[in-house]
Amino acid sequence: MQLHTQPDLVQRANAVLAGGCDSPVRSGWGVGGAPFIQSRGDGAYAYDDRGERYVDYIMAYGPLLFGHNHPALTTGLDELARQSVVHGCTHPEEIRLAERIRAYLPSMERMRFVSTGTEAVMSAIRVARAYTKRTLVLKFAGNYHGHSDFALLNAGASAHTPDAQRSGIPGGVMRDVIVARYNDLASVDALLAGREGELAAVIVEPIVGNMGYVTPAQGFLEGLRERTQRYGALLIFDEVITWLRFGLRGAQARVGITPDMTTIGKIMGGGFPIAAFGGREDVLAMLAPLGSTFTGGTHAGNPFCVGMAHRVLDLLETHPEYYVYMDALGKRLADGIRAIFARRELPYSVVQHESIVDFKFRPGPPNRNYDDALAADKARYGAYYHEMRKRGILLPPSQNEVMFVSTAHSNADIDETISAIDESLEAIAV
Ligand SMILES: Cc1ncc(COP(=O)(O)O)c(C=O)c1O
Repeated sequence: MQLHTQPDLVQRANAVLAGGCDSPVRSGWGVGGAPFIQSRGDGAYAYDDRGERYVDYIMAYGPLLFGHNHPALTTGLDELARQSVVHGCTHPEEIRLAERIRAYLPSMERMRFVSTGTEAVMSAIRVARAYTKRTLVLKFAGNYHGHSDFALLNAGASAHTPDAQRSGIPGGVMRDVIVARYNDLASVDALLAGREGELAAVIVEPIVGNMGYVTPAQGFLEGLRERTQRYGALLIFDEVITWLRFGLRGAQARVGITPDMTTIGKIMGGGFPIAAFGGREDVLAMLAPLGSTFTGGTHAGNPFCVGMAHRVLDLLETHPEYYVYMDALGKRLADGIRAIFARRELPYSVVQHESIVDFKFRPGPPNRNYDDALAADKARYGAYYHEMRKRGILLPPSQNEVMFVSTAHSNADIDETISAIDESLEAIAV
């Protein structure tokens, strides 16, 4: 297997794309070495610029629940395009899509489509501020909500830069955002003390995939629900990763809590850019033309992406076994890693929740918050990442991410991965 990206491609990327990439994580700065440059994807596999095959666990950071190029999502696209790719009017399929989504997420009494998760969150926050006539937003360190100004403060995922708190973000924005510790209601109370009447919204990933995989502790989300109600603020669930990954009813059904607003994206477009925000009817009534708050978008709700979203829902409705299959794959992978850790007497915890598998190079229990995530051994992960890549396994080049399995992965892929993990741990001598 060729192990290195063609140097001229890296040079050309650096010479024309800022930092050689469109999103910093892709530069590989979290693990060092040459970035992975991907020419194509097929099923569970990514192919590099030399045509070498890798079992892909990045899966585009979430959208590819069905792997690359699922036939139901990649055939007949010319027919879909012929009906119009984009136009500037509301259309029947957009209405039908919203109805379908609301049937699964009843908390989204009204919604609006946008193109990215970033826009969905940005819009939800504006509406929440307009509704409450307040500006203060409480978020959690290590929860990633996209790259709008407010969202970057102490965000997890690829947004971790030494200076992400300041660079290019106006001071005024920072004054209106407070960042608490996930799973820690005492930190919420300490930050809000005396400012309860200023609070517009609490935004949270109900189950987190951006500081490794982190589940909410007993009572944490209930505590946020109770406090937001008590303070007259709104609770926003960012389900950009979790909706459809954890079933058609998303994380909110799993945790049994109804948020005031929800943001969704990633999987829903089947690889194409469509996202949405929505929530209580009285809150969404803030939006023009009903109210005075503005959101819009040339590509918002375009027929092509809406058509793709229908296909995704069709697939999931007709294949409930997909979730069972991915859970079995995830378990197989997690059990294999646990067995290796036990044999090698390594003190790391493996977490698996259906199609998400994760472990960090940090002894002790799984991550509970961003402090835990930052305590993991970054250099060791970098060495491990490159050993895995040498063996044809593509991991996310950052410890804040998780491994995603898809319906396209097979038991053979999982077993190949487990062997590669054993060999890679041997190679880096842990
Ligand atoms: C929970 C969450 N919210 C929002 C976003 C932003 O979505 P996008 O990258 O589509 O702008 C992401 C992206 O990773 C995310 O994980």
